[in-house]
Amino acid sequence: MVMVSATEMINKAHEGHYAVPAFNINDLEWIKAVLAGCQQAESPVILGVSEGAGKYMTGFKTVADMVRDVHDAMGITVPVALHLDHGTFEGAKACIEAGFTSVMFDGSHYGFEENLEKSKEIIALAHSKGISVECEVGGIGGTEDGVTSAGELADPKECATIAALGVDFLAAGIGNIHGIYPANWQGLNFERLQEIQDAVNGKPLVLHGGSGIPFEQVHKAITMGVSKVNVNTELQLVFAKATREYIEAGKDKEGKGYDPRKLLKPGADAITAQCVTMCEAFGSKGKA
Ligand code: 13P
Repeated sequence: MVMVSATEMINKAHEGHYAVPAFNINDLEWIKAVLAGCQQAESPVILGVSEGAGKYMTGFKTVADMVRDVHDAMGITVPVALHLDHGTFEGAKACIEAGFTSVMFDGSHYGFEENLEKSKEIIALAHSKGISVECEVGGIGGTEDGVTSAGELADPKECATIAALGVDFLAAGIGNIHGIYPANWQGLNFERLQEIQDAVNGKPLVLHGGSGIPFEQVHKAITMGVSKVNVNTELQLVFAKATREYIEAGKDKEGKGYDPRKLLKPGADAITAQCVTMCEAFGSKGKA
């Protein structure tokens, strides 16, 4: 199967009351491990690429070429979308050119009018090429790629205006944050989620900061219109833990631990297993 835009898989999830996982990828190991996990879980998947990860992999074109080639070489049959995560205006345009099948334009740090105008332009450009678009209203808290934004509750009226532009799915702040949740985190704001859901006329919603939210809260959010859940930190944590354990187990002493293919395997296997767990939790397992 060729890679697809995220529209159909998300609309199906919205109708079927589950969520498509959006797993961030950082390098070749991540791409292979996430695809293996979602193929095993028979789940559709969105591969999220931050602008920082794109730079790390030497550019969006490298990412698109590499993901396509790995996808084909692995014989992946579940629906896969390649998606820019938290893109700038220029970044979204670059990914549309580079062969991504989905982009997020995050204009939440602009004034609302500017966010609206820029979102409109990206939506028109992406849709002219069959590419899906996510936009954001109300910043998601926490730190990502070194950029920190204060958590915000999105304004339902602004959500309604952006939804009416024809965006395919909408990220709206409901108390969620990127990275590790602090011990005193208040949880998701379901009252605001309900107001947003009422305002957006059936538009699928996106939950960012999916690592570490208790699954009961994720499930409740899914019943209230969330159809895509983003996960990054959780995969980084399991990768780092498995790699550390492998090194600490002293296998290097055998003289083989310096081989990167061996050194990175436990971490990659841990990512694959975590993806399967998340697909089960989000209800996307078996939905490919
Ligand atoms: P976490 O790193 O908290 O899982 O958030 C991921 C995310 O929302 C990417 O946009």
